[in-house]
Amino acid sequence: MKKLALASVFLCLVTGMQSVQAADPEAGRVKAETCLGCHGIPLYVNTYPTYHVPKIGGQHADYLIAALKAYRDKQRSHGTMHANAASLSDDDIADIAAYLSSLK
Ligand code: HEC
Repeated sequence: MKKLALASVFLCLVTGMQSVQAADPEAGRVKAETCLGCHGIPLYVNTYPTYHVPKIGGQHADYLIAALKAYRDKQRSHGTMHANAASLSDDDIADIAAYLSSLK
């Protein structure tokens, strides 16, 4: 009896989590690897070479999704970031955002 109760609590937790987080942060970690060459070690702003690179680790997923779609769809113009976002699908962007937003 006790086991059954525990199992259903566990199931609720698992299914609850999945509905909130459809994106896969683990897949995002792999997909975000190329980004870190510029955006640096996830937690830090890259200060070298000479241009400013925004900190993207720990930002809200919604914010990252909006920014990446804007670069991809050329609503926000930046040659380098457009080149990086151009090949990403909506799923890729969601996964990457899930990963980056999970960093502190
Ligand atoms: C060649 C260097 C470079 C690479 C590689 C790169 N970025 Fe960027 N990224 C930049 C620069 C520079 C900016 C600032 C652009 C601007 O001023 O709009 C930026 C901006 C961003 C922003 C907007 C941040 C904000 O606060 O508005 C996001 C999100 C982002 N990058 C995510 C990514 C992701 C995800 C990848 C990998 C798919 C990636 N970047 C790869 C250089 C790079």
